Amino acid sequence: MSSKLIVLVFVVLTVFFAGCSDRPEDTISSDDGGHSGAATVQTVTATWAPDGVVTDGEYAQNMILSGGVFEVSWKNDGENLYMAIKGKTEGWVAIGFEPEVWMKDADMIIGWVDDGEVSAIDAYSTGNYGPHPSDTDLGGTDDILEFGGSEVDGFTVIEFKRKMNTGDEFDKAFESGQTVSIIWGVNEFDDPEERHIEDGKGELAFQ
Ligand code: HEM
Repeated sequence: MSSKLIVLVFVVLTVFFAGCSDRPEDTISSDDGGHSGAATVQTVTATWAPDGVVTDGEYAQNMILSGGVFEVSWKNDGENLYMAIKGKTEGWVAIGFEPEVWMKDADMIIGWVDDGEVSAIDAYSTGNYGPHPSDTDLGGTDDILEFGGSEVDGFTVIEFKRKMNTGDEFDKAFESGQTVSIIWGVNEFDDPEERHIEDGKGELAFQ
């Protein structure tokens, strides 16, 4: 083999392997229309308080969706789930767990703040696009143990606590270490019968 050919083979192989090692790592986008998100993890250092203010260290994980139109923070132990949902809206914000298809069979929490009065409903979507009556209307139980919220600078925050496994057939039962699919929606009005102006999907993992 001529020396020119050997140099050519060397150059081709060098370029090939350099190309392989430069390939970007697979990443999960935190902003692709709300259809996936990357959770950031932090150490819990603050006491949980359902006051509508998410403080540093209050939650173990956080995920921002659709560039901040929706944000969810959460922590859990084997017994309880603590969560904050924040929407870029002065209307309702909602999260739904484990829909079968579209919105159907999602275990939902819908909350809003109207003139300083905070409401939160433990709801369940019975159809593909709702309706999503309260669990109590369906014969189940209201399993929001504590909640609170705020409406500040065009953002609404609802914080709530529920058992990981409430025992209600209209709540999904969660386990430590489990990953669950979520849907979310926000609306500009406080009426939960009004359809969302923005919505999205994602998944989150419990500790
Ligand atoms: C009365 C209230 C509601 C109505 C009338 C309604 C209606 C609809 C309709 C018609 C669609 C299909 C078309 C579209 O994407 O806009 C849809 C999709 C969707 N809704 Fe709702 N919705 C309501 C409440 C909610 C709530 C509370 C949530 C979140 C907890 C939610 C989450 C979603 C999501 C994520 C989708 C897209 C599903 C997919 O692409 O697979 N909706 N809704």
